[in-house]
Amino acid sequence: STGQAIDTNSMTLTRYTLAEQKKIPHATGDLTQLLVSIQTAVKAISSAVRKAGIAKLYGMAGDVNVQGEEVKKLDVLANDLFINMLSSSYTTCLLVSEENKMVIEVEKDHQGKYVVCFDPLDGSSNIDCLVSIGSIFSIYRKTSPGDPSVNDALQPGNKLVAAGYALYGSATMMVISTGNGVNGFMLDPSIGEFVLTDPNMRVKEKGKIYSLNEGYANLWDPAVTEYVLGKKAKKAGARYIGSMVADVHRTLKYGGIFMYPATSDAPKGKLRLLYECNPMAFLMEQAGGKATTGKIPILDIVPTDIHQRTPIFLGSSEDVQEITELYKKHN
Ligand code: AHM
Ligand code: MG
Repeated sequence: STGQAIDTNSMTLTRYTLAEQKKIPHATGDLTQLLVSIQTAVKAISSAVRKAGIAKLYGMAGDVNVQGEEVKKLDVLANDLFINMLSSSYTTCLLVSEENKMVIEVEKDHQGKYVVCFDPLDGSSNIDCLVSIGSIFSIYRKTSPGDPSVNDALQPGNKLVAAGYALYGSATMMVISTGNGVNGFMLDPSIGEFVLTDPNMRVKEKGKIYSLNEGYANLWDPAVTEYVLGKKAKKAGARYIGSMVADVHRTLKYGGIFMYPATSDAPKGKLRLLYECNPMAFLMEQAGGKATTGKIPILDIVPTDIHQRTPIFLGSSEDVQEITELYKKHN
């Protein structure tokens, strides 16, 4: 070795998706192009999350925004980036964002065949205290003829073409599946590229960690109460960040279960099906785990509303199986 720290042949995310695309006989390269546009959005969000340019905004004296310009809130910036990068990629026709009430139709002469649902910056309550946050996305093919409409976004998760998330944690990482396993790519800030660091990610069959907001314990279904008592009896570890991407990423890496169950005041839970639960369920199943409402697999839900919510339990297959059995018992 010459002591050179730069890898001259690294497996970047774009290189990886290109190679995957070449395995499919008549593939056009659109999905690769779409994923490039998401990477651009994620890199810019990552940079903003890490406060690039903060000195310019605060000035020497520490005054807020000496230039007097309005600072864009991070979640607004993230949403603008996703919308602008996706709609200029010539690969999408319809977008669903957590931040927009209605679907967004891409300009006619920019349209492509994919429908993308995303939460541009999830875990907003963690932004100001600098705890991990993330972006989540899912990708469908438009299957209906004619102009894109909301129905093109109301496909069940088992029709997903691809899904992924970006975690802005102690490092920035993208975890992606195109239906052929799960791969993790760490952002190397020195070259501005996502590099394959976690090939073929698999979740343990059984874990030792449970993760949910226990503050709502008085509002749970009896099945969840019994389940959590069982975890405590076994002295399982408890972890809850309150940022779905970070909690799911830990579950994928270390095993265990992440839950956002129904509560008596929110019978559908909190998390959204299209751009939070479906993509995470798809990834977890692709990694050998499971994801359920307690009663049916998340990916089998046929959506009726782009912003609908669902209770969710996901992670190691044995842990998820246990809660489905308790739901059967308490039914
Ligand atoms: P948000 O979309 O408003 O950021 O809310 C979603 C977040 C998830 O990241 C996390 O799993 C959940 O809300 C935490 O909710 P709670 O504070 O009720 O435990
Ligand atoms: Mg969210």
